[in-house]
Amino acid sequence: MRIVVLVSGTGSNLQAVIDAVKAGELDVDLAAVGADRSGTYGVERSAAAGIPTFVVDFKAYSDRSAWNAALTEAVAAYRPDVVVSSGFMRIVSADFIDVFGGRYLNTHPALLPAFPGAHGVRDALAYGVKVTGCTVHWADAGVDTGPIIAQEAVPVAETDTEETLHERIKAAERRLLVSTLRSLAAAPQSPN
Ligand code: GAR
Repeated sequence: MRIVVLVSGTGSNLQAVIDAVKAGELDVDLAAVGADRSGTYGVERSAAAGIPTFVVDFKAYSDRSAWNAALTEAVAAYRPDVVVSSGFMRIVSADFIDVFGGRYLNTHPALLPAFPGAHGVRDALAYGVKVTGCTVHWADAGVDTGPIIAQEAVPVAETDTEETLHERIKAAERRLLVSTLRSLAAAPQSPN
């Protein structure tokens, strides 16, 4: 199973995938890592691991549809079976979903459909939930929407800040992302 991973920042979930592949615990071909901006640590650590990288800088395009078209083309060049949004903080267009729909995976730090968006951890904490968690799902052109594949619950501690809670959620997220990819890799893939 060939995968392309999209990131916008640190890429700690991506690192878990890289580590699992290197350890022989996850049988996927990490074809490339792409970002929507230059200078991300996610791209830096992928390059250091010898993985091809690309950047489709959102700010370099006049409008969202031109950026979406360029992203779609850049990802398609690697002929992925599955595209993973791993902390990729941009909404893709219906055009992207026309090409990658049904094989575009997203990871989110909340129990969807609760607390979608860029601040899932902060919003859950502000609401006062006692349990939150993470979700891996097939993404569509919405904000953290699409069929859920797997979820893991994480209890909220009285003393939690956004940072401490997010760290515990990320630990669960890393497990969930790797185990989901392992299950998908074991299942037959449809040809591109
Ligand atoms: C992860 O917690 C991921 O779920 C979240 O961004 C973080 C990226 O961390 N994504 C979203 O909030 C999407 N709505 P990482 O770059 O260290 O993997």
